[in-house]
Amino acid sequence: MNKNQFISDVSLLTTSSNSLVGKQVLNLSLAESTMDEVKELAKLGAREGLVLIADNQSMGRGRFNREWLTTSGQDLTISILFKPALNQVHMLNMVASLAIQETISEITQEEAEIKWPNDVLVNGKKVSGVLIETVMSTATHVDFAVVGIGLNVNLNPLVMDAIKDSATSISLITGALTDKYEVLSKLLSMIDRQYQLVLQGRDLCIDWSTKVSTIGNKVKVSNGSKIISGYAVDLDSVGNLILETKQGRVTVTSGDVTVI
Ligand code: BTN
Repeated sequence: MNKNQFISDVSLLTTSSNSLVGKQVLNLSLAESTMDEVKELAKLGAREGLVLIADNQSMGRGRFNREWLTTSGQDLTISILFKPALNQVHMLNMVASLAIQETISEITQEEAEIKWPNDVLVNGKKVSGVLIETVMSTATHVDFAVVGIGLNVNLNPLVMDAIKDSATSISLITGALTDKYEVLSKLLSMIDRQYQLVLQGRDLCIDWSTKVSTIGNKVKVSNGSKIISGYAVDLDSVGNLILETKQGRVTVTSGDVTVI
């Protein structure tokens, strides 16, 4: 990583002095993937709450190693460093998706929903996705976790064949170009608020489950070559999806959901 590429944009953000997430924000004009940059910084001793934004990613990745598409400089691609205890790791998904859901609802004035486990949709189309990568030195010790967020701010998915039917963006919803740093500032303070609750011992599962719109639908969940179908009937205490299938109840820990 070339240190000269860093610009500190802290002054552009209105995080409170007590905040943990966003106290340090680094803006890189180009990264392969912010996930790997933050992992490197974590190994060099970076503090919890560090945020790295890249204006452009050459190899941005989504869940299941899919490509993550953005418009140059116009969308949010960020990764945040967390150092949670083992029993808090599952809540990072809830922290991120709840904060994104709240941010998007507030900015667009449309009720955003969470598609299990962490896609955020408006009117059935994806505005944001979350990728979480955890580094553990032993089976019980979490060194750190990196939460990556891609949020379509000014993207025009209508000109992108791969996502034109499935994605939307804040600007497409509101009809106006939006300053990505304003979105970032709101998002970081909401992530900080949710994470502080976790650190105080609060379980976010109930708040999170009220925003998960997947429950009640007949769905297909794919995970690699494995596909399982059934009714999404519940979420368990750590956020796994409970499916009622022909073979009985199944707990799904990860996968890509399609409503059928
Ligand atoms: C998904 O919906 O599949 C998750 C998308 C996550 C994309 C973000 S963009 C910032 C960070 N860096 C990456 O390479 N990926 C995540």
